[in-house]
Amino acid sequence: MFSFTRLVLLVTLAVSASASCIHNTSLMRRQIAEEGTVEVSTFGYTGSKGPLLWATLEAENELCRTGKVQSPINLDDTISKATEAPVVAFNNVEEAEFENLGTTLEVLATGVTTFAGKEFTLAQFHMHTPSEHRIAEEYFPLEIHMVHEAADGSIAVIALPFQLTEDNSTLELLTAVTENIEAIRVPGTVGRTGALDFTEITEIIQTTPLFQYTGSLTTPPCAEGLTFLVLEQPLPLNVATYNKIKSIIKFNARYTQNTSGQDNFLAAATVFANEQDGVSQSQSCDCGPGGENPAPTSPAQPPVEDKATTGAHEPAPTGANNHENIPAAEACAMQCKGKRWVPDAFL
Ligand SMILES: *[C@@H]1O[C@H](CO)[C@@H](O)[C@H](O)[C@H]1NC(C)=O
Ligand SMILES: *[C@@H]1O[C@H](CO)[C@@H](O)[C@H](O)[C@H]1NC(C)=O
Ligand SMILES: *[C@@H]1O[C@H](CO)[C@@H](O)[C@H](O)[C@H]1NC(C)=O
Repeated sequence: MFSFTRLVLLVTLAVSASASCIHNTSLMRRQIAEEGTVEVSTFGYTGSKGPLLWATLEAENELCRTGKVQSPINLDDTISKATEAPVVAFNNVEEAEFENLGTTLEVLATGVTTFAGKEFTLAQFHMHTPSEHRIAEEYFPLEIHMVHEAADGSIAVIALPFQLTEDNSTLELLTAVTENIEAIRVPGTVGRTGALDFTEITEIIQTTPLFQYTGSLTTPPCAEGLTFLVLEQPLPLNVATYNKIKSIIKFNARYTQNTSGQDNFLAAATVFANEQDGVSQSQSCDCGPGGENPAPTSPAQPPVEDKATTGAHEPAPTGANNHENIPAAEACAMQCKGKRWVPDAFL
């Protein structure tokens, strides 16, 4: 499942990133700022900190825009089901630490899951609202990721989608988790859950169909090689619990990624946009010293001329405005790929 070289790469990629999906694993040890608080994430879900620009936040986030085995994805008939059931043994506890990391709410639960002949230790579980995975294109209001790590450093995530109920029922475990949720409304705060009993969820995970695929962290650094096991049948969630969770998390779902093995959406979208705009991929670019500031060598002119000759767009206004530079700048961003760069147009 995990080659040695990939593992080394994954570890070096991940260590310095801010709090994310691999929080509290050996890839990202927990950093408690002071008693009763936790460090908040430096990435986000909106604007210049959002998923379209994660790769520009830290050099080690490069896979977020170039990786071809990224998560989340749409789970359809082409994604196979696990042929064996995981054997899970989560520890029931009187209470657990419940943290607001700014980008997610996380519970420090413990336990062991045995899958494919390997033991994975549960590091934490955290929430995404709305869901990150889609099932037959449909998204869900909530998804929980139970993040596990094996002794060799490989990561397995059991993902649990939730669906709103008409009878007001909610998975009891979730009711217990969110009992004191108001105490961690502010990012960086730490509270306690109610008593956690994993009996019901254990039974569900071990007896119902799970999609299985290899993907990536859905947060920076987007490292690849993770095993995802995603419950096919969503779990019950009532409106009151959902609204409470959502009012604190706000929004933390990465957009659906391309089919495994195919081009990263960001790369594919840039190529597509440039084709539509008639910008040549072969134009020469000045990637700048260390690639800090790539720019077309003759700014503005090529896109304006190309547009005029393709006739695919309305005639460009005389005196190219800033928008006329975007396709050329993106083409150069592709050519200068691998060097850190934030397109001015997006800031
Ligand atoms: C995960 O959190 C627990 C509880 O605070 C702590 O004991 C453990 O050392 C943490 N593990 C890592 C790898 O940071
Ligand atoms: C639904 O369940 C919540 C607890 O999760 C409770 O506070 C609320 O009163 C219930 N609503 C109805 C209509 O039963
Ligand atoms: C997915 O990748 C393929 C190439 O591997 C590309 O042609 C396609 O445009 C990508 N899909 C999207 C929606 O970008």
